[in-house]
This record gives sequence, C-alpha cells and structure tokens, in this order.
Amino acid sequence: MYFLKCIECGAEYSKDAIIYTCSKCDGLLDVIYNYSSIEIDMDKLKTECPSVWKYAKLLPVKRLPVTLKEGGTPLYKCDRLAEKIGIKKLYVKHEGMNPTGSFKDRGMTVGVTKALELGMKTFACASTGNTSAALAIYGAKAGVPVIVLLPAGKVALGKLAQALMHGAKVLSIRGNFDDALALVRTLCYQENIYLLNSINPYRLEGQKTIGFEIADQLGFRVPDIVILPIGNAGNITAIHKGFKEFEILGITNSLPKMIGIQAEGSCPVVKAIKSGAPEITPEDNPETIATAIRIGNPVNSKKALRAIRESGGTAESVTDEEILAAQMDLARLEGIGVEPASAASVAGLRKLVKMGIININETVVCITTGHLLKDVSSVGKICEEPTVVDANIESIRKAIFGKVE
Ligand code: F0G
Repeated sequence: MYFLKCIECGAEYSKDAIIYTCSKCDGLLDVIYNYSSIEIDMDKLKTECPSVWKYAKLLPVKRLPVTLKEGGTPLYKCDRLAEKIGIKKLYVKHEGMNPTGSFKDRGMTVGVTKALELGMKTFACASTGNTSAALAIYGAKAGVPVIVLLPAGKVALGKLAQALMHGAKVLSIRGNFDDALALVRTLCYQENIYLLNSINPYRLEGQKTIGFEIADQLGFRVPDIVILPIGNAGNITAIHKGFKEFEILGITNSLPKMIGIQAEGSCPVVKAIKSGAPEITPEDNPETIATAIRIGNPVNSKKALRAIRESGGTAESVTDEEILAAQMDLARLEGIGVEPASAASVAGLRKLVKMGIININETVVCITTGHLLKDVSSVGKICEEPTVVDANIESIRKAIFGKVE
C-alpha cells in the first residue's frame, strides 16, 4: 500500500487523488510506501535483467503497464575518460539509450500507466523537449491525446520532431519553460487534464529506477557519488529516493552523495546550495546552450535541495564551453553520444575534481540523460565540417593524406 504525503506540512492524500501539490500548503508531494509489507525476492532480483518494470513491487501501479521497454540502460565503465579527468573509477549510465532517447521514458511509462488507472482521458506537459517527446510516444501507445507546451525557438529539433511525429498537439509558447509550466498547470486544473510534468510525484517514481539500476548493475553496491544535470530538479530527487528505498529494504547498505550540475546561466539550485539558503531564488532569464536544462524556476527545487543536503552532496555550475568540451570527450574517448545537457554531468565532475571536492579514489557514476541525436545543433560549433571532394580517388587521397602519390 502507498499514499501521497506533503513534504512541507505532512498532510496525507489517497493514492487515487488527482493532485500534484498539497491542497493545504501547496507543498510538493512524495509517494510513501509501507516498506515492511513489500517482499523482495533477492534471487529473482539478482538474475533478472534491469528494466523499469523489473522493480514493479516498488512502483505505484497495478494495471498492465503502457511500456516500450524502458530502462535497462547501459552502465559503462569509462577508463579513458577517468584517466583524462584524473580519477580511478568512473561509470557513465547512458539514459540516452531509452526508447525516445532520454530518461523521461522511465517517468512516463509509470506516469501514463497511473493516469489510465486514474481514468484520465487527456495528458499534458510543458517541456524543454524531452518530456514532450516521451509523453507523445506513451500517449500514442496508450491511445490517449497529448498536449505539449514548449518554449518557442528553444527546443532542439530532434525532440520537436518526436512530439510532432507521435501525434501530440504542440503549442509553442512565446515565453520560456517556466512560463509554459505555469500555463500548463492552469490548463490541467481548469480542464481536468492529467499533468505529466515532474511535479507529478508518480512520474518521479518511474525515474527512481535509475537509482535501483545503478545499484543492481554494480552488484547491489552503491557508488560513492552520483552526478547528473539539474533542470526542473525532479530527477536528482527521484534517484536519491531510489537509493534510499533499496537501503530501507536492506538490498544495499549505503547511500551515494548526490551532486547536481547546472549551466552557469541557469543555476538557481547551485546558488542556494552554495549560500545555504533554504529555498532557491528563481532566475528570470535563464540561458545556456544546454536547452534541456534552461530553467530558472525549477519546480522540484525544494525536494532537490533536501536530497543534495541529506546525501552530503553538492551542486556546481559549468560554462557552456565546459559542457561542449565534456560532450566531445564522452563522444571521442568513450563512444558515448549525448546532448549538451547530459554532458554537464561530466563537465561538473571535471571541475569538482580540479577543485579537490571529489577525491580521486571515489567511485563516481555520471548520468548522461539524453542522446546526441536529440540535439545536434552543437555539433556544427565544435566539429570540423565534412570535406567536400570530387568523386575520384586522387581527390580522396589528397583530402586524407594531403598529397597525391
Ligand atoms: N537532462 C536532460 C536531457 C533533460 O531533458 C532534462 C530535463 C534534464 C537533464 C534535467 O532533469 O528536470 O529532472 O532536473 N528536461 C525537462 C524536459 C525539463 O522538459 O524535457 P530534471
């Protein structure tokens, strides 16, 4: 059994309430389980391949899932990148290998399944791109109409193409993501449409499986540090919850430090962590090349601040140049193609190692949240143009070797 609980005032709500924040104090909600009633078959857990639905006993749904086989993403050991950064043990969990190419699929398979359980007939979200792509495909799979609100001109084309192709009604808002999120919340409230942004606690339940999978793939051990980009601040919270639940259930016996990375032009969580402030101060004009995390007022910031502080972690900002350099290193040293926001995790790791905040002996997992093909706009900025040659062998030899023998 499970129920919803406000993280601020502790008010409790039924698991079937259509509610996204506390109706008493507007606080964020958590999904709380009766862990003592959950029986985990360790033999099965050790033998079955990782996937979101492998952990169904720890997910808040009963009906058959709306699934495209999400999760089970690779955890790569990255020795060449580790050496360049100067640490001993680095893994990259490549969430770009999910069905739509981002971790959002984990949240959507659970959130959309829950929405059907609740009898909801239309789904909506605001998005910097990936959430809309994921909601569009799970809506299509479920046969339910989807509405997405995007910041006009600030969504990478790969993501927009997914939302359009999978049949969502796409509205480009003359405003930023924070404006779009405020508007979609009003729309959902007024029209009884189900909101599938990460303010919806059921969506985060799907995303906590990243934490389960990391532990699972490391032989039910936990790394010292997990680093990931922060945008709307849902994922860091969700993954921390996943690690906590495995510990509560006795599956693992420690917790990683959670480290969140934001772009310098869009880093309210970093500022709050560094200043020790209890809350973030929203930024009106967030800007970064990593459009996925171009968010000035992260809706889950209170949960994220709690997760970071409770875990003994931290938050750091990186420049767009540092993000692009990390994107290139992931691609060329490890064969991992990611979109710019994802590379923020590795850029942050590099900076924190240099600052002496991360010790070279600590085991680190960086999460790369989205695939390179989602957003190829940075490629032209950092890679050489293709060389155009005449269709004869001499021209080809000249282009490759610089001379004709
Ligand atoms: N990385 C990528 C590739 C993302 O798309 C996002 C968020 C994040 C990181 C940050 O995760 O919001 O849980 O802190 N994208 C959202 C979207 C906002 O609309 O697709 P977060």
